[in-house]
Amino acid sequence: MSEKKALDPARLRQDFPILNQTIHRQKPLVYFDNGASTQRPTSVIDAMDQCYRETYANVHRGIHWLSEQASAQYEEARLKVARFINAPFPEAVIFTAGTTMAINLVANSWGRSTLKPGDEVLLTICEHHSNIVPWQQVAAETGAVVKFVDITDDGRLDMDDLRGKLSDKTKIVAFMAVSNMLGTIFPVAEIIALAKSVGAATLIDAAQHVPHEPTDVQQWGADFVVFSGHKVLGPSGIGILWGRKDLLESMPPFLGGGSMIDKVTTEGFTPGELPAKFEAGTPPIVEAIGLGAAIDYISAVSLQWVASHEKLLSATLMKRLEKIEGLTVWGPAPEHRSGIVSFTIEGVAAQDLAILLDQKGFAIRVGHHCAMPLHQRLGIKASCRASFYLYNTIEEVEAFADAVEAVVKRLR
Ligand SMILES: Cc1ncc(COP(=O)(O)O)c(C=O)c1O
Repeated sequence: MSEKKALDPARLRQDFPILNQTIHRQKPLVYFDNGASTQRPTSVIDAMDQCYRETYANVHRGIHWLSEQASAQYEEARLKVARFINAPFPEAVIFTAGTTMAINLVANSWGRSTLKPGDEVLLTICEHHSNIVPWQQVAAETGAVVKFVDITDDGRLDMDDLRGKLSDKTKIVAFMAVSNMLGTIFPVAEIIALAKSVGAATLIDAAQHVPHEPTDVQQWGADFVVFSGHKVLGPSGIGILWGRKDLLESMPPFLGGGSMIDKVTTEGFTPGELPAKFEAGTPPIVEAIGLGAAIDYISAVSLQWVASHEKLLSATLMKRLEKIEGLTVWGPAPEHRSGIVSFTIEGVAAQDLAILLDQKGFAIRVGHHCAMPLHQRLGIKASCRASFYLYNTIEEVEAFADAVEAVVKRLR
């Protein structure tokens, strides 16, 4: 992919067939729901299609040609992920069904075997439900306590509150790198350093980070990092748990079944080595291959460019929206956020706004975005969220702002 193409979203979007359509009586489709899931370039669709047509078989189970082809492609995808996030050992890259499954794996394996009554799990009030509920479930069984770090009024993490809540009781700090509602980019390395100072482990929910700016798990110094394939141009049904190798080796398996064992007898079993130990059953083979193709695509585009392009889109939209009377954009100034802009409008139901915007061709998310505690903290029930990716353009953002103005006038 040429540099020129990489820096031109209007050309990039030609790689995404789904974006090239009109809906609701010839309205161009504007896809601003990338926080929920992104779209796929043809190279990802083709890689998956090619596997199903030519090389598909179960992996690591057959000695026949097809199984060898599929196994090699599956392991090649693991290597691509490892390089992409700078993971030192590819075997510490575990394929899961997604971010949710990856967090459940850590909470159930590491959490159940580590947490004791009175131990504390520290989260932030911004977390997605997938980084709250598994910890609440494990806490209920182990007697551990789940605590939440607050945010400042401008939607950044309250570092004083974090320092105040960290203690030798804190056994893990599990937090998002980027908020899926506020768009806030959290100071990941600083939070990890603070967690380490009290001996706590760290889990980074990088679902909204990995797709949008470079991620280096070694530079962060994290213990666990998780993300989803479908948010980074890959297929649904695939996600990643990366963990510190020694930690993963010391943890018990989460799911039991085929592939994850060394030996099974009628008396019991011994688990296999990494990564098999955490990949019980037939894995998402074609999805892993698709994720590998997505990583090839995004790596050729340059994540530095993606990050700055999205910041520009956010700043442009915020400037326009803030002129609308009664409209609140939640979260920090553009320099502290990624390509996510959530807002509410006094006297206008978020749901009504989103329905009318859909009629004009704009796909946005409305509701609590799986972040109910954060919405409670902000004193709102629901918000509208526009979330961008590399194929979105300034023209789309301007058209969206015009549409919001028109719809608000109509609803008032
Ligand atoms: C920050 C964050 N964490 C976790 C998730 C859950 O991801 P998945 O549904 O792919 O498991 C999401 C999805 O919206 C998210 O935005």
